[in-house]
Amino acid sequence: MTQMTTADVPSMGRRQFMNLLTFGTVTGVALGALYPVAQYFTPYRAGGGGGGTNAKDELGNNVSASGWLSTHPVGDRSLVQGLKGDPTYLIVEGEDAITSYGINAICTHLGCVVPWNSGANKYMCPCHGSQYDSTGKVVRGPAPLSLAIAHVTVEDDQVLVSQWTETDFRTGTEPWWG
Ligand code: FES
Repeated sequence: MTQMTTADVPSMGRRQFMNLLTFGTVTGVALGALYPVAQYFTPYRAGGGGGGTNAKDELGNNVSASGWLSTHPVGDRSLVQGLKGDPTYLIVEGEDAITSYGINAICTHLGCVVPWNSGANKYMCPCHGSQYDSTGKVVRGPAPLSLAIAHVTVEDDQVLVSQWTETDFRTGTEPWWG
């Protein structure tokens, strides 16, 4: 059996081989660069399943369901950064469950962040007195509209937020935030 060395590789063949390697590398880099773009243009799936943006805490870290549930008791409503970074309430509805919708805390009157008042069981805006019930539905003006909502899902322990495009279950109307 004869042993083949690099010197035995015909020069043409070797160059083609090198070209192939270079091409492969360039293609790999190009695909790598395109991947985030492709992801960016993938539309959110209706219903929220299988897509979304990571909810982030005040430090900008991704929120995990297990981490959140270990530090927030049942009934808790605390803010995360949701879609477009908007302050969004996550609701802990059980020992191991986060409610499947989050409530955007931006008042529909002039944009103040609306705190949750657990005693009154309402969101009460400190700026001009608007009030929203526990689902974020407006119950007192001057706010003209209910607080926006977003889908909240958990995938691989990551809390994801995605656009709510269906009928607003609180009012039976199309989402105004579409
Ligand atoms: Fe909330 Fe005016 S901004 S009531």
